[in-house]
Amino acid sequence: MMKTLVALLLVATIAAAAHASGDEEYQNFPLGLKSDGASEHATLQGITCSSWRLAVEVHNIIEWSTVPAECENYIGQYMESPKYRQHSKAVNREAFLWVRDVPFPKDGRNIWIFDLEETILSSLPYYSQNGFGVQKFNSTQFDAWVEKGVAPALPETQKLYNKLLNLGIKIVFLTGRTISHHEVTVKNLKRAGYHTWHKLILKNPAEHSGKTALEYKSAEREKLVKQGYRIIGVTGDQWSDILGPATGIRTFKVPNPMYYII
Ligand SMILES: *[C@@H]1O[C@H](CO)[C@@H](O)[C@H](O)[C@H]1NC(C)=O
Repeated sequence: MMKTLVALLLVATIAAAAHASGDEEYQNFPLGLKSDGASEHATLQGITCSSWRLAVEVHNIIEWSTVPAECENYIGQYMESPKYRQHSKAVNREAFLWVRDVPFPKDGRNIWIFDLEETILSSLPYYSQNGFGVQKFNSTQFDAWVEKGVAPALPETQKLYNKLLNLGIKIVFLTGRTISHHEVTVKNLKRAGYHTWHKLILKNPAEHSGKTALEYKSAEREKLVKQGYRIIGVTGDQWSDILGPATGIRTFKVPNPMYYII
């Protein structure tokens, strides 16, 4: 009886918290409302799936192609649990606590670079229907989903985005999405609550064919520096977003255990 009561209270509290966030996208797609931990101890050749995830995040496990099948439940539960959002919050909060005290000149040249997928916008509605990264990436299917323009905002990064704007730092979005997705990307960003930016750089295949994401993004950042911009920080969910030249004063890695981009 007592246990039932506690469980009911817990459910009511979570429901109230979700309601209080007032984020409609979130209600449609309740990131962070499922319990997690149930498959934390699923094993993958002697290591737990949570150990696998940590090794992926800190870039000890690299160039992996798909989430191990043994860890599908664990990764799915993690992505839809409060932990994913908490981990994202820890990163974005730290970025703000740092940047607010950086004594950069107020000359209008300051920029912050954000990746899009899994940094600014969430593809979780797509990946939740496709095995949370267990299945091999299908660009035809994913591109069709991108064209719907319904990716929700990642709320913790969105808070940082708003705070950077208040500090007078210009926003640059740098994405591996190709220029063919320009129109829908603008629509999606606005729909998700990102109403302004200085530049939205999408990949021009004619200019960057055969390049890795790391090479493409590095080249675009170097162009920005040559144009006179001062890169204060870079945020991405992939190591290829934050490695290489011209990564500013500091980089910030938000979580993504679903896929790896070279
Ligand atoms: C990718 O998805 C499309 C559309 O569903 C399908 O026709 C195609 O066979 C898939 N490709 C691979 C390699 O699975």
